[in-house]
Amino acid sequence: MRMCARDRMSLVVVAALVAIAPVAGRQDVALKDLMPKGMVIGVAINQRQFDGTDTAGVELITKQFNQISPENALKFQPIHPAADRYNFDPADHYVQFGLDRKMQVVGHNLVWHSQTSGWVFQGADGKPADRETLLARMREHIQTVVGRYKGKIHGWDVVNEAIDEDGSLRKAPWHDGIGDDYVAKAFEFAHDADPNVELYYNDYNLEKPAKRAGVIRLVKDLKARGLRIDGIGNQGHWRLETPAIKDIEDALVDLHSTGLKVMYSELDINILPDAARGADPSIANPYANGLPDDKQQQLSKRYADIFGVILKHRDAVSRVTFWGLSDGDSWLNRGRANYPLLFDRQRQPKPAFQAVVEVLRQAR
Ligand code: XIL
Repeated sequence: MRMCARDRMSLVVVAALVAIAPVAGRQDVALKDLMPKGMVIGVAINQRQFDGTDTAGVELITKQFNQISPENALKFQPIHPAADRYNFDPADHYVQFGLDRKMQVVGHNLVWHSQTSGWVFQGADGKPADRETLLARMREHIQTVVGRYKGKIHGWDVVNEAIDEDGSLRKAPWHDGIGDDYVAKAFEFAHDADPNVELYYNDYNLEKPAKRAGVIRLVKDLKARGLRIDGIGNQGHWRLETPAIKDIEDALVDLHSTGLKVMYSELDINILPDAARGADPSIANPYANGLPDDKQQQLSKRYADIFGVILKHRDAVSRVTFWGLSDGDSWLNRGRANYPLLFDRQRQPKPAFQAVVEVLRQAR
């Protein structure tokens, strides 16, 4: 094929534009536009974000994500602090935030051993509540909360963290009071409250074979009972070196072998060492003045590897949710400086963001 001078010239211009596009487009590129079909990308948001106070946060969330999870607002304790009192206001704002932006709105969570009001487990005369009392409270709570957001919430984490490290059911107050079928009961009540809402089981450390086997047993048991379950949430609270990427991939394949979609429901990468209370700050809080370049690169590579696995198995994954918007928002700081997410404390994209964008682009 022969080219005239003008065609050659426009080719040169296009090539030059392509070369500078990744740099010029950096601030404009949105993760949600790069995700494969059928997979949403989201973030857990806090009160200041869904009530609009954190305006820079709201702008970034709106631009980058098409799904939200509530970091705390829909948990039992915040939404149902006393037997006869619900606190719907924050949750209403959370749900409306997502609806206004046409985002997929997730509910987290209905039944958990943590962040649940003490009154729930108390019976008469100071004894632990019995099975019938607990089932009645569970049903009432689920009917009220799931019912209120019927048609608005896309899917619920029905039960959170019910399996122990050895694969058995965790010794938790719901389990103590109701018995082994408490998970099944929660799924039954949730489905009754909204027959169209998706229902998930959510847990962490699923890269550990014994725990994962327990989760798979539980999911199969729910299915065998004829209950609705739509997905398994793998929280994905990981570290720079662990779990190994191979173990992340094996876990994904294994969880998906149940026939269910997997969601990375609470993704973040903890950079800090485990440290005992009162440990020497230079050891416990090594990056108080910023993350060194080599760690920044390691974090980018880690996120690129994780998204590489997700894209390789894209048919197995329906959602990726970061547990917090920016490093400053993360629950992993706890008085130290952590750097677990894609946006820094100034809400600017980190090299890890660029790395994820690159992997997503290449997969398209
Ligand atoms: C965390 C929140 O991020 C914190 O703000 C809160 O103090 C404790 O809970 N697994 C879960 C999440 O399922 O609900 C937890 O969220 C993190 C671990």
